[in-house]
Amino acid sequence: MTKLTYIAHDGTRFEVEAENGSTVMENAIRNAVPGIEAECGGACACATCHVYVDEAWTAVVGEPEAMEEDMLDFAYEVRPNSRLSCQIKVRDELDGLIVAVPERQG
Ligand code: FES
Repeated sequence: MTKLTYIAHDGTRFEVEAENGSTVMENAIRNAVPGIEAECGGACACATCHVYVDEAWTAVVGEPEAMEEDMLDFAYEVRPNSRLSCQIKVRDELDGLIVAVPERQG
């Protein structure tokens, strides 16, 4: 299991144990993290699972692929550390990952 921390927009922290192979979005939904909508269910087609990857983790998490990059154009207040959480697969190297949820989606 890999530990993930979500920081909701109001500052509330949600620490969850995630299974490798699941996505950061799926674990947010499973644990009722507020602010992640994931309308398309993880198909990289809605941009409502937008998160900010903690600066200390951006290199480990990596860059978005072209399709995600295109969808991110539809996200609210995109920053250099923006990612769509359905496109981040949980793996051992992400143990301790911190992501912040934006003020709103879309
Ligand atoms: S859940 Fe729709 S793009 Fe991530």
